[in-house]
Amino acid sequence: MENKIKIVLATGNPHKLEEISEITNGSGIEFVLPSGNFDPIENGKTFEDNSVIKAKEASKISGGIALADDSGLCVEALNGEPGIHSARYDTTPQRRIDKLLKNLADTANRKAKFVCVMTLTDKDGNILHQVKGECHGQIAKEQFGTNGFGYDPVFLVDGYDITMAQMSEELKNKISHRANALSKMIRFIKENL
Ligand code: IMP
Repeated sequence: MENKIKIVLATGNPHKLEEISEITNGSGIEFVLPSGNFDPIENGKTFEDNSVIKAKEASKISGGIALADDSGLCVEALNGEPGIHSARYDTTPQRRIDKLLKNLADTANRKAKFVCVMTLTDKDGNILHQVKGECHGQIAKEQFGTNGFGYDPVFLVDGYDITMAQMSEELKNKISHRANALSKMIRFIKENL
């Protein structure tokens, strides 16, 4: 049997582990959660900074190769906001959507993108590789669909007539910013580790 490469996923969120394991199923890589209490201070100014902070912290507490992702929604007409503040834009997922729709109001330019930056660090916290994945779309005037999480109900994906929350998990996992970043990272891992 093939030996699996074991990588610590720099998150305290079991849902993320599930989603990433689902996308990478059959790749020969096994993801596990950090062994200790994982609570890094995400005080970077960019997705890149924050993913480095998370990966280094996970390597430090578990002494293994770590992969971190940092993601968010960037809306053109709001100068890239909520961006790195996506998770904390307001207090609940519904309030975050309401705030976004209110801030955009009737703005004609509704262009937006989901961004995901992934960083891989070695057991000593040195950066091995960093990749970025994007998924482009438009912010809908109202929300549609109940699948997914976060801003999915208001994100109309370019090339599709539906929001991310109306997509099957299978389709989202093919076209998402996270899937895009992950496929680049998996290629690097398979070629270099
Ligand atoms: P993080 O990757 O945990 O830092 O996520 C940041 C925030 O960005 C999440 O809490 C969501 O609000 C938003 N976000 C990231 N990826 C997605 C997605 O695939 N769908 C909807 N919202 C997302």
